[in-house]
Amino acid sequence: MAVQSNGSSESFVKIPEIKFKKLFINGEFVDSISGKTFETIDPRTGEVIARIAEGDKEDVDLAVKAARDAFDHGPWPRLSGYARGRIMMKFADLIDENVQELAILDTIDAGKLFDSGKTVDIPSAAGTLRYYAGAADKIHGETLKMSRELQAYTLLEPIGVVGHIIPWNFPSLMFFMKVSPALAAGCTMVVKPAEQTPLSALYYAHLAKLAGIPDGVINVITGFGHAAGAAISSHMDIDKVSFTGSTEVGRLVMQAAATSNLKSVSLELGGKSPLIIFNDADVDKAVDLALLGILYNKGEICVASSRVFVQEGIYDKFVNKLADKAKTWVVGDPFDPSVRQGPQVDKKQFDKILSYIEHGKREGATLLTGGKPCGEKGYFIEPTVFVDVMDNMVIAKDEIFGPVMSLMKFKTINEAIERANGTRYGLAAGIVTNDLNVANTVSRSIRAGVIWINCYFAFDRDCPYGGYKMSGFGRDFGLDALHKYLQTKSVVTPIYNSPWL
Ligand code: NAI
Ligand code: MG
Repeated sequence: MAVQSNGSSESFVKIPEIKFKKLFINGEFVDSISGKTFETIDPRTGEVIARIAEGDKEDVDLAVKAARDAFDHGPWPRLSGYARGRIMMKFADLIDENVQELAILDTIDAGKLFDSGKTVDIPSAAGTLRYYAGAADKIHGETLKMSRELQAYTLLEPIGVVGHIIPWNFPSLMFFMKVSPALAAGCTMVVKPAEQTPLSALYYAHLAKLAGIPDGVINVITGFGHAAGAAISSHMDIDKVSFTGSTEVGRLVMQAAATSNLKSVSLELGGKSPLIIFNDADVDKAVDLALLGILYNKGEICVASSRVFVQEGIYDKFVNKLADKAKTWVVGDPFDPSVRQGPQVDKKQFDKILSYIEHGKREGATLLTGGKPCGEKGYFIEPTVFVDVMDNMVIAKDEIFGPVMSLMKFKTINEAIERANGTRYGLAAGIVTNDLNVANTVSRSIRAGVIWINCYFAFDRDCPYGGYKMSGFGRDFGLDALHKYLQTKSVVTPIYNSPWL
């Protein structure tokens, strides 16, 4: 059983009044056409924080019209990259100035740790914006050496109007991971935050306007996936959709693109990432890494190391230390600086995780630690570790998206590679060893988009990441992400001023 914090939020921060609750279209906050609103819930208590405008297809149409107009006739795509970059830098400075309030919004909306929000999430959102601001004036095509008496060059042009459909687990970081490269490329956009976490996205819309981003360039439509989200993925006037979320919805987004205007799609979907710990590992450090890998952000992270493979020579020692350390992990109010794990994002996710835990027990896995909800209210779950897990059990195959680890023993390096790859997903993997040959062999053999050797969650905005297999395609971060929002135009002329035959 994990330790439960008993601090109360009010003793740590003063929660501000919610300022932005309406859709943001063409530079203005407006009600939805239907006038409908929905509740956003605080997962610490299950209580309503605010009612937010519920955007539907008609609202998406207005937002797309504004974005289309801003793309076809407005200044943003026509500004120099340098000028766009200057405005984006200003936007980033405004995020820094409001870091406390933004971190509070993500904590009350998503149950995220306030201290991490203030020191990691929000600053890296601003950092991501600055990274792409710096890239905005370095977008170059190529000159081509042709096989005939022709000369040619390529122009990299913005892809057009982009729809960003984002999830709730990193509301700020996801927003800027998608919006920043699209802005740098010169695109205009409609952003749909997850219905669980609309608050910070609306605040960012306000800051964008203050920074001087022209009206229509960033529009934010809050609302549900089946309505506003589906309207984006099937819209005839959106040129690209960038989606992060579940594999099921990723499939729907692709289908909608295929049956509408064949818009370009990139998908960042689920994962069931392995962390492979070899006999030569420092057991204490490996235990810390394994716990972090599954408990960070309460396991609500697509790259969570939900399958931990430990080599037989250190397995027993590892299990004992892991059980001890998991018990000291503090679950509770995410405003309390001593807390390491807040509530799951909502009741649906909470119920889903608990039902996977029950399934694991029925399938014959053994609970080493945790397995129960905790606290009198809100959606808190104990850090949970299963041992005696077989590769074909549902808990070892499905993405649980919660603080639930499956711990497994292996003998040889080949066995580890084979079992680690035995998943339909391929987002990330971790390796713990000091043996360079082992690290090199395993990292080249795992089919996943990012491999962390002797570290985990070593994200950086300069490092592309995304999925292999059913974890999706297309990369976020790095210059790869910038290229998602660009398209190549080739311009060809004869070298001599003669009619070309
Ligand atoms: P989801 O895939 O339903 O939601 C992600 C986004 O897609 C939200 O903005 C949602 O409104 C939108 N959406 C939903 N239905 C849509 C549709 N028909 N058309 C267009 N957009 C739509 O994910 P959900 O239900 O919140 O979580 C379910 C599971 O998905 C989680 O338990 C987890 O396994 C996985 N997930 C993965 C994430 C990742 O980072 N890869 C993030 C969030 C969830
Ligand atoms: Mg919420």
